Amino acid sequence: MKVTVVGAGAVGASCAEYIAIKNFASEVVLLDIKEGYAEGKAMDLMQTASLNGFDTTITGTTGDYSRTADSDIAVITSGIPRKPGMTREELIGINAGIVKTVASNLLEHSPNVTLIVVSNPMDTMTYLVHKTTNLPKNKIIGMGGALDSARFKYRLAEALDAPISDIDGMVIGGHSDTGMVPLASQAARNSIKVSEFLSEDRLQQVVEDTKVGGATLTKLLGTSAWYAPGAAVSALVQAIACDQKKMFPCSTFLEGEYGLNDICIGVPVLLGKNGIESIVEISLSDAEKTKMQESAVGVRNTNGLLDV
Ligand code: 2OP
Repeated sequence: MKVTVVGAGAVGASCAEYIAIKNFASEVVLLDIKEGYAEGKAMDLMQTASLNGFDTTITGTTGDYSRTADSDIAVITSGIPRKPGMTREELIGINAGIVKTVASNLLEHSPNVTLIVVSNPMDTMTYLVHKTTNLPKNKIIGMGGALDSARFKYRLAEALDAPISDIDGMVIGGHSDTGMVPLASQAARNSIKVSEFLSEDRLQQVVEDTKVGGATLTKLLGTSAWYAPGAAVSALVQAIACDQKKMFPCSTFLEGEYGLNDICIGVPVLLGKNGIESIVEISLSDAEKTKMQESAVGVRNTNGLLDV
């Protein structure tokens, strides 16, 4: 199992680290355009191998895509992160060109690769990869919902004063401050709906805190977050590499599911060796259906800025 991570910034390096620590991949290649940077991050990470007990080999390269040849999975984290006060959508001008070039370079050397898109605005970048490559839709996966769901569970655990392992919850919709649709009505603590324990106002606060989860961290850190994004990517990579058929909300190209067409947006999918094995259609409340449609309008507006 060979995994390439393009972009050796904080998110890319965290992805590589968590993938290595989970010890299911034989090789991780980190690629960056900044001279020596990926090589340095790879060496630093390899010097944790004996301490953290992994056998994955991590190597770095400055822009040499031949080193990524025959990757099974590639993660695209390249592009600029947002600064405090910026929305993910504002990154489109710079990131669209970068993501298009990176995807094409990767496919030249790994025509059968499964791509995981992390760069923002993520749903639109996933759509861009869909429109500009010949990859089948099951091999193009946008990472947002897995991260947003982890943030939702964090906020629910905080509100309930409960251990996170007691909590289940999912966020679908666009990976944006306004477009996320946390499925609050279905969130549970040990199969009991959280609405049994939390007032409507407190639950609404959890929803709002979840939606601005990335923005809150960007304000605190001065740049976008990396540990939880890296961990979320590693969970998707592991589900594919180990054919786990696990369910995650991911951005995928829809053809009628959830009443949507010609758009990439977060919905529950099963991940296994074929990438997206299937899209799972769950029943939504009328309010959630409306929010999903509104979210799609936002994603389409951003897609409209693409030159495809
Ligand atoms: C986030 O929400 C990087 O978009 C990512 O932190």
